[in-house]
Amino acid sequence: MIKSLRGMNDILSEDYERFTYFIDVATKVAQRYGFHFIETPLLEETALFKRSVGESSDIVGKEMYQFTDKGENDVCLRPEGTAGVVRAFIQKKLDRAGGIYRFFYHGAMFRYERPQKGRLRQFHQFGVESFGIESVYEDASMIMMVSDILNELSIGYKLQINSLGDNNCMPQYRDNLVKFVKNCEDEICSDCKRRLETNPIRVLDCKNEKCQELYKDAPKLINNLCDNCEDDFNKLKKILDNNGINYEIDTNLVRGLDYYSKTAFEFVSDNIGSQSAIAGGGRYDRLVEFLDGKATPAVGFAMGIERLMELIKMPEKKRDGYYIGAMDEETIELVLNLVQKKRKTHKVTTDYKAKNFKNHIKNADKANAKYFCMIGSNELESGEIKVKNLEDKTEEIFKVKEF
Ligand code: HAM
Repeated sequence: MIKSLRGMNDILSEDYERFTYFIDVATKVAQRYGFHFIETPLLEETALFKRSVGESSDIVGKEMYQFTDKGENDVCLRPEGTAGVVRAFIQKKLDRAGGIYRFFYHGAMFRYERPQKGRLRQFHQFGVESFGIESVYEDASMIMMVSDILNELSIGYKLQINSLGDNNCMPQYRDNLVKFVKNCEDEICSDCKRRLETNPIRVLDCKNEKCQELYKDAPKLINNLCDNCEDDFNKLKKILDNNGINYEIDTNLVRGLDYYSKTAFEFVSDNIGSQSAIAGGGRYDRLVEFLDGKATPAVGFAMGIERLMELIKMPEKKRDGYYIGAMDEETIELVLNLVQKKRKTHKVTTDYKAKNFKNHIKNADKANAKYFCMIGSNELESGEIKVKNLEDKTEEIFKVKEF
């Protein structure tokens, strides 16, 4: 038997209900915040991710589904959504047009990670990207949007925030950090040795306990921000305070992608095991220019749908629509006519086989239908059908023509 690939799941039945319910809720919230849907391809040039997510990141370094296509192009299944949206933004010349653009998307992402609970090789994200706003109010509204989505789904969370500085303060900080880490270079893990060469700031979120112990007294970026970054970070904290959003400052939160500057944030849950990050995002003011567009401030986030599906409390399921069944062969055609007619306005389920009451009612329950009717030779003769409300058990008789 051929099975799905490791770390790649089917989503059906109950899972699918959770999946679509999440997307419905998140979409409504995003639209309330003025975001519009965008769809970008699953396959992009590998160079796009190398230049945006960054060669030093684990995602690009170890986890890409990268291959050469039949036209000898170096391509890659998208590991995340931001890079594609930025490419589309530039390709459509929206950077040149100026103004504010807000997009949301959802879809499959691919990372060749070691699969475990909450960590898949094909997973789904719901994400948003906002272009053209420099103000930290937009950063705060991103955080509030995630919070609104999680609240609507009754999902508890912890929010961690940090500032990664900008071109003014980050380079100086990076040099200081490198100086600090070089003093204990012999003792750090091999990953950190590599990070020291490629993107030193990523040593801060190394999962190795020994490294963490060594970096305990490392300089903190939060204490070395330039005035502008410090002002914005203070404003962000104030807006969150004023809006009743609890947060922790995590000075080691650097995120696993290279494009961030200033605000970085992550939402985590205690209830899904070790893969606890349910959403992450931040500001990426340099990325549009870095991908050859006109410099444009930008900020966004993405939420991991499979992780959230573990946490969603589904609203009580209500019966809905009709189930119409044929009792004998000669009524199947009439049933189909009625089904098609009703489908113009209602959800209708049926079975293309003549069956007895027991089997039809079983089907109706499975379909969670609210109204139930069966058509046999009596109904065909009398031209009347009995419709039963499966919720309150009442019955009503209709003329076939008027049904
Ligand atoms: P990210 O933190 O890499 O950010 O991913 C966002 C979310 O996707 C994570 O918090 C997690 O819930 C989910 N996720 C990531 N990897 C996996 C996996 N292997 N299996 C299941 N879920 C996973 C980004 O992707 C950025 N593009 C977010 C962003 C948008 N920043 C600015 N705009």
